Amino acid sequence: MITFNEEQKIFKLDTKTSSYVIEIFKENYLVNLYYGKKIPDINLKKLSERYRSASFSPCNPNDKNEEYSVDVLPMEYSCSGSGDFRIAALSIKNADGNTVTDIRYTGHRMYKGKPDISPLPSLYLNNDNEADTLEIYTIDRVTGAKATLYYTVFNETGAMAKSVRVENTGNRAFEIEKIYSSCVDLPSMDYDLITLYGRHVKERCREQRRLAHGIQGIQSLRGASSHNQNPFAALLSSDGNEDTGDAYGFNLIYSGNFEISAECDYQGSTRLITGINPADFSWHLEPGEAFQSPEAVLVYSDKGLGGMSRIFHRLYLNNLIRGKYKTEKRPLLINSWEAAYFDFDTEKLVSFAKEAKELGFDMLVMDDGWFGVRNDDTNSLGDWYVNEKKLPGGLGVLIDRVNALGLKFGIWYEPEMISPDSDLFRAHPDWCVHVKNRENSIARHQYVLDVSREDVRENIFNQMYSVLSKYKIDYVKWDFNRNISEAGSALLPPERQQEFFHRFIMGTYQLMDRLTKTFPDILLENCSGGGGRFDPGMLYYSPQIWTSDNTDPIERLSIQFGTSLCYPASTMGAHVSDSSRTGYETKGNVALWGTFGYELDPNKLTDSEKDLVKQQVKEYHKYYELIHCGDLYRLIDPYFDSYKCAWEFVSPDKSECLVTSVTIRRSLYTLYILKLKGLDHDKYYKNEADGEIYSGALLMSAGINLSDVKNLDGESVKIYFTEVK
Ligand code: GLA
Repeated sequence: MITFNEEQKIFKLDTKTSSYVIEIFKENYLVNLYYGKKIPDINLKKLSERYRSASFSPCNPNDKNEEYSVDVLPMEYSCSGSGDFRIAALSIKNADGNTVTDIRYTGHRMYKGKPDISPLPSLYLNNDNEADTLEIYTIDRVTGAKATLYYTVFNETGAMAKSVRVENTGNRAFEIEKIYSSCVDLPSMDYDLITLYGRHVKERCREQRRLAHGIQGIQSLRGASSHNQNPFAALLSSDGNEDTGDAYGFNLIYSGNFEISAECDYQGSTRLITGINPADFSWHLEPGEAFQSPEAVLVYSDKGLGGMSRIFHRLYLNNLIRGKYKTEKRPLLINSWEAAYFDFDTEKLVSFAKEAKELGFDMLVMDDGWFGVRNDDTNSLGDWYVNEKKLPGGLGVLIDRVNALGLKFGIWYEPEMISPDSDLFRAHPDWCVHVKNRENSIARHQYVLDVSREDVRENIFNQMYSVLSKYKIDYVKWDFNRNISEAGSALLPPERQQEFFHRFIMGTYQLMDRLTKTFPDILLENCSGGGGRFDPGMLYYSPQIWTSDNTDPIERLSIQFGTSLCYPASTMGAHVSDSSRTGYETKGNVALWGTFGYELDPNKLTDSEKDLVKQQVKEYHKYYELIHCGDLYRLIDPYFDSYKCAWEFVSPDKSECLVTSVTIRRSLYTLYILKLKGLDHDKYYKNEADGEIYSGALLMSAGINLSDVKNLDGESVKIYFTEVK
C-alpha cells in the first residue's frame, strides 16, 4: 500500500510488517522520515528537524536564516558535492568536469504492479495485486540528469524493492560516477552490521560488528559477487538477536562488483547504501541516453534475524525463482566431480549411473572434463565439443545408455572462460578480457572471455546450442572459476572502458536469459568454484547454486547457516560426498538442508553404506516439501556455539516440523535440552520416533531432551513431529 498526503507532502509505503516514509522537504529535497515497524499515521515531520551544530554544515542558498542543511537531513537519495558530506548515492561528473550533483523532486506516479527493469534480473510479480509501486521523479537542474527513484512494496511480506534510473535530459554528455540502488538514513547508530565473509571452500560465514563512526562495509571488485563478500548485509538493533529486535536486510540483485556501506555521522545517525561498486566504474551518458541501476531488496522484521530471513526466503521462492523448477520437484542427482574428477570415460560414467539407479537417484551429471582435449585444468575451455577419446561415439551413446537405465543426464559448462591452450583462443586471441599493452594475469590456467561482446556471446551460445539441442540433456551446471583482472574490452572506446565490469555481467545475464528461454526445461545450477557467485542475480536464472566446494558436513554448517541468512534452502546445492571422516548419516542430514544429491563413486560404498543411502533417498522424498517450502528456524547457530548446531523446518500450516541437531564436538556439559521454535502453541505434536505427544507450547518453552542422543563428535540426529488432530 502506498499513499501520498498532498498537504503534508508525505509518501507512506507500507508492507505487511513495515512502513517507509518519505517527505518532500523544503526546496523539494527528498528526506527519509522513517523506516521500521508498521505504523498507522504520518505525524513524523518533527523527525526531519535536525540540529545543525555549526557553520560547517552548508545551507541551501534560499535558506537565508541558515536553518537546515542537507549535511544533517536524512536524505532519501544523497548527492555528492552540494553540502552533504556523508556517502553519496549519486555522483555525476558533468561536462564542466566537476561532480557537484543536486537532485530535487519534480513529480511522482503510483500504481499497482512493478516496473520492468530487464535486461537486469529483478523481483517479478505473479499478479499486479501483489505489490504497489511509487516512482519519484527528480532533476539535477544543471546537468539535466533526471533520476527516477523506484519503490515497490510487497503487500504480503515485509519486503520492498528499490532501484534508480538516470536519464540525460540535458544537451551535454556526462558521466555517472556513483549510482547506488538504495540509500537508507536511520536516526540511530545502535546497530550491529552483519555480513557474510569467506573464501573458496569457506563461503558466507557470518560476521558481526558494532557500528562505529565513519564508513564500514563490504565490496567486491572481482567482476563477480565473490566468495569473499556476499551482496547482503543486515542491521540488527543492539537489543536484537535471532528472534527479537529490529532487523533490516539488504540484498542486491546483482552478480558483479557491488558495495554495501554504512556511515555513522556526528549526529549518531546511520546511512546505508547498496549498489554497484563505484570503484572501477563510470557510465557515459550522451543526451537522451539512460542508465538503470540493479535492484536492491530491503526487508524489515521486528522478529530479529530469523524473521528477516524467513521474509527473504518466502519472497525469493515466490518472486525471484522462476521457470519449471520453481514448483517442479528437482531431480536427485549424482555428480561426477568428486567421484572421478577428470578421470572418467563412458564406461565409468555408466557404472555410476547403474549403481545410482539402484540407489534411487534420478540423474547423472557429468562434470568438468568432457570436451576438447581436457584431462586436467590446463586447456580446452571454449572448445565445447565432445572429447571422443573419453566418450567414444560421442555424447549420444553415453546419454542413451544413461537414459536407458532410467536416469536423466546433466552436463557441465564454464561458458565465460577461455583457456590460452584452446582452439577458440588460437582463432580469436582478442576475445578474452584484456587491456592494451599489458599481459593478462592467469588463474587456473585460464582467461575470461569478453562476454560484453555480442560476437563472443553468439559463438558461445551457438556452441552450447549445438550440444543442448541435439541431445537429451536435462540439467546444466554453469561454472565460473576465476575472477577478472586487466579488465577492459577491445571494442570499447577509452571513455567507456570503465563501463566494462557492468557490461560484462550484463553480457552474462543475456547469455543466461537466452539459454533459459531456449531450453526452458533444463534445470540450470550456477556455480563459481563452489559459491563464488551465490547471489540473487544468479538465482533469477538458476533456481539452485552450488553452495561450496567444501562438502565436509561439519564445515558446511557455518556455510549453510550463513547462506540461510538470506537465501532459501531450495537454492543451496548440497551433496553427500566422500570428503571427510564424518559418517554418512551426518553427511546426509546436513545435505538434506539443501537441494540434496551425491558426489561420490557409488561403486565404492559398502553394503551397509548403500542401505543408509537408500534410507536417505526415502527421507529426501519424505521431507522434500517441508524443507523446500517450509519456514526455517535456526535453533543453535555455529556462529555462537562451537559444540552443537541445530535447525528446524516448520510447514507453513505448522502441522509438521523436522529438527536436525549436529554435535560438532562433544560438549562441556552433559545436559542438552533443545527448545523448538515456530510451532503452534495450542497444537499437539507426535514425535515419530517414539510416539510421545507434546504441546507446541511445551516443545517451545520446555524443549526436548537430547542429552544422551548422538552426542559424540560429528554425530547427528533428526526428529520429526507431526500434528495430532
Ligand atoms: C569448480 C566447481 C566444482 C567443479 C570444478 C570443475 O571448482 O565448484 O564443483 O565443477 O569446478 O573444474
